[in-house]
Amino acid sequence: MIRITYLSEESTPWTPRMLLDLLRQCHLNNPDLGLTGLLVHGNGSFLQTIEGDDDAVDTLVAKIARDPRHKNFRILRREVIQRRLYGGWSMGFQRLSEEMLKDVPELENFVLDDFNPEYLSENPVAVESLLQKHRSQHWDPLLRELDARDNFIIELRNALAGARQRNEMAGLLIESVIESASNGGLDPAHVELCRAILASLRSPLAPDLAGLTDAL
Ligand SMILES: Cc1cc2nc3c(=O)[nH]c(=O)nc-3n(C[C@H](O)[C@H](O)[C@H](O)COP(=O)(O)O)c2cc1C
Repeated sequence: MIRITYLSEESTPWTPRMLLDLLRQCHLNNPDLGLTGLLVHGNGSFLQTIEGDDDAVDTLVAKIARDPRHKNFRILRREVIQRRLYGGWSMGFQRLSEEMLKDVPELENFVLDDFNPEYLSENPVAVESLLQKHRSQHWDPLLRELDARDNFIIELRNALAGARQRNEMAGLLIESVIESASNGGLDPAHVELCRAILASLRSPLAPDLAGLTDAL
């Protein structure tokens, strides 16, 4: 497999409709060809990376290079790859804006005007940051927020499971105390168990109660 990354710019200004038509073309053609990738558009320029079988990628890129809708086409790199980086996308799409760039610390000094074939072909680090940031879900503030909520929910779920466990143990302990009391009293091992469970009920972290269950 290979991955080709290239830069180009609009021949004449593109309308949103033209972008939509292009993306529809990508989403129709690329899955059948086993191609995946990412297209970044902004400041009248394109940065695209396409990955898949050698022949399929080379053939499509040759076709794209001849497409009159863009010009100043230049291949940045052609890499042999073992695995895909954009496996989930028949063609991921990212429109760049100043707003979005502010959100990427690695692109602190990068402005939207720099998104053009001349600047980018001299700045491979900026290209890599743009591609890499799109791959990371933290590129998108909404996704970042959802992720934070997911983590919060996982923590809540763990805390609830821990609390339920402690409750179970406390219930068992009370039952066993009642049972022992009606059989003539608590032996020292029982008292030890009460102390351990009391400590676990008071501890802020979910304790590992498996040992206590065995003891009961
Ligand atoms: C910036 C840019 C990116 C493109 N990317 C793709 C692509 O990923 N897949 C694709 O099939 N065509 C892409 N095209 C369109 C091709 O140049 C060409 O029009 C298309 O592959 C022809 O498809 P058709 O044979 O279905 O008409 C792109 C064109 C441009 C200008």
